[in-house]
Amino acid sequence: MLTLYKRGRMGYFAGTVKATTRSLRALKGVRQVVCLTAYDAITARLANTGGADLILVGDSVGNTVLGYESTVPVTLETMLHHTAAVARAKPNALIVADIPFALAHDNFPTLLRTCRRLLQESGAEAVKIEGGVSLAKSIAKLVDAGIPVMGHIGLMPQQVHAAGYRRRGVTDEDRARVLADALAITKAGAFSIVAECIEHSLTKEITKAVNIPIIGIGSGTGCDGQILVIYDLLGLTENPPSFAKPEAQLGRDAVAAIQRWAKKVKKGHKK
Ligand code: KIV
Repeated sequence: MLTLYKRGRMGYFAGTVKATTRSLRALKGVRQVVCLTAYDAITARLANTGGADLILVGDSVGNTVLGYESTVPVTLETMLHHTAAVARAKPNALIVADIPFALAHDNFPTLLRTCRRLLQESGAEAVKIEGGVSLAKSIAKLVDAGIPVMGHIGLMPQQVHAAGYRRRGVTDEDRARVLADALAITKAGAFSIVAECIEHSLTKEITKAVNIPIIGIGSGTGCDGQILVIYDLLGLTENPPSFAKPEAQLGRDAVAAIQRWAKKVKKGHKK
């Protein structure tokens, strides 16, 4: 049963009313924000019906759906294609689309055109940008243009060739860097920030320091919400990260179903 939450003058939802960036921001300090990735109409419907407040069309589509080793090969055309499929499911959850590899570091008109295409052509309602202090100016200009931005700090999968996949905020120097990223993006006007694989005590510190929801992944429970890759949650990933505990084993169940059917076919079963 989904519950309708209210706070002050602003009524907001848990799956029954269309989510907005404002309604998500208003959840800070009220309840944890539930976020999931989705890549097509089916996963979007599952996430939405399951109670997600926010659906991220992540560039993790590269690893999960398309068989790439990383998110680096994912292009804008790919993001447009998958975001449009998610939007056709008409979820109440807010639809956020990832800005693919290095595009946020291109010149501003190119970044603006990219965001415009995601919102106008594919039905995204906000974009997510990996990066910190160095992108704060661009984020502020996007927000000014009416494009809601979700930040992404800590481990940034698009930086895999430069920095690898490593936990962030372990040394004092790195803690200061990650905190500065969070503060700069908040000041730039982001409505929320994904905090990936950040030392848990630092995630807590960031969550206290900013007035927008910090959505953790592998960063402990001291934040304002959690996000998971839906394939990891549903048991469709062969080696999910250790922090992603599957709540189902759909991969195993699918293979068993196919094997049962294959057996019947081989026996010449008529139905
Ligand atoms: O691309 C993605 O799915 C993400 C989440 C893991 C936060 O960025």
